[in-house]
Amino acid sequence: MSKIKIAPSILAADPLNLGKALQNIKEADLLHLDIMDGHFVPNISMGPAFVEACKRGSDLPCETHLMIEHPENFLGDFIAAGSDIITLHVESTPHIFRGIQELRANDVGVGVSLNPGTPLSVLDSIWEEIDLLLLMTVNPGFGGQAFIPAMLKKIKEARDLIDSRDKEMELAVDGGVNAGNVREIVSAGARVIVAGSAIFGDDNGADWKKFREKVPG
Ligand code: DX5
Ligand code: ZN
Repeated sequence: MSKIKIAPSILAADPLNLGKALQNIKEADLLHLDIMDGHFVPNISMGPAFVEACKRGSDLPCETHLMIEHPENFLGDFIAAGSDIITLHVESTPHIFRGIQELRANDVGVGVSLNPGTPLSVLDSIWEEIDLLLLMTVNPGFGGQAFIPAMLKKIKEARDLIDSRDKEMELAVDGGVNAGNVREIVSAGARVIVAGSAIFGDDNGADWKKFREKVPG
């Protein structure tokens, strides 16, 4: 099995001590930055300036998870901020392909995300374009929610689909992952583990290796 990557979700870090949070998790694999607009999801978080600050404060590659309407209108800003991968929700735009083309043209990794209620079949015509598939395992918008157990079957189905095709693709899982369920999630086929509260907890990530020890691979 290839190495499992860990992507701390900075949403759960202490905003007053962001630099320290980034130092604490500097041995992780990539940063996961949650961008929320109060429309696509019922919460507001950070924007491009925050992404740029995280890039300055960390050597890790950065995946920018856009939970915003009309994401294609903002791609330029998030690319300029230094995103290495940008993840678009298929539910957020009728123009997902336009977004994908812009990311490709700018040499930015193409991430595509699905809400828990969205079937894998929506990916049929864009499959070849995806570098990272991000399956939401909570309803997007907030950290600290419980993993939706029905998503284990979806992770397995996505794993089978990926393995049956030629295209290399990362399978990432986002929402409610913790030390108690991460083994099962990896067994189902996830290879990138996004985690916020399980990593930053109430110590801003000082002890995050306790979580890492529970991640197989
Ligand atoms: C939720 C975000 C997640 C969130 C995960 O909408 O996309 O990345 O920060 O947080 P936890 O790991 O606490 O569920
Ligand atoms: Zn996220």
